[in-house]
Amino acid sequence: MYHIIFFLLQLLIFSSHAAVQDFCVGDLTGPEGPAGYSCKKPATVTVDDFVFSGLGMPGNTTNIIKAAVTPAFSAQFPGVNGLGISIARLDLAAGGVVPLHTHPGGSEVLVVVQGYILAGFISSANSVYYKILKKGDVMIFPQGLLHFQINAGGIPAVAFVSFSSPSPGLQITAFALFANNLPSVLVEKTTFLDDAQVKKLKAVLGGTG
Ligand SMILES: *[C@@H]1O[C@H](CO)[C@@H](O)[C@H](O)[C@H]1NC(C)=O
Repeated sequence: MYHIIFFLLQLLIFSSHAAVQDFCVGDLTGPEGPAGYSCKKPATVTVDDFVFSGLGMPGNTTNIIKAAVTPAFSAQFPGVNGLGISIARLDLAAGGVVPLHTHPGGSEVLVVVQGYILAGFISSANSVYYKILKKGDVMIFPQGLLHFQINAGGIPAVAFVSFSSPSPGLQITAFALFANNLPSVLVEKTTFLDDAQVKKLKAVLGGTG
């Protein structure tokens, strides 16, 4: 009898220390490591940590690409920290484009909610998969692969994109190549482009060297 009571008591004590960690709302005051942010103390977490209200408004598309990406990644939406998911809004004005880019940290699923978007990606085998998407269409972009989105109608297009990472990252290839200070001669050597083309793109995109 005493054995059983003792056992149940042990179980009770053990269970109270074995609660699953339901969430890890990111503490944005600390640094972000490979595993994300450290967790806010659960007592300070509120419902607003799990709600992001920034995706209802169009992003500002008055820029060189006539496009805007509004991210709700862990840095903007700490509730997704540790959960392996995030979301963003994509606005493409008429003529807009999200140039070739990658998300090193996650795969992407895109759903068109307005207009027409020509979207595609290039595989590691250099196969190209692209299609004009309309409202309600969904397309996936596997992790790390180069991909793009182009407005394919004369009207603004809107899509929501979700990622398999709370912090998928975004690197736009043209900016990586031409918006930095890597000397032109090295850009030319590593891209097969000629000097005039490289200098022109550096001037347009803000690179030096
Ligand atoms: C959009 O961005 C442009 C260029 O930076 C800026 O001039 C304009 O004021 C912005 N518009 C809004 C509504 O913020």
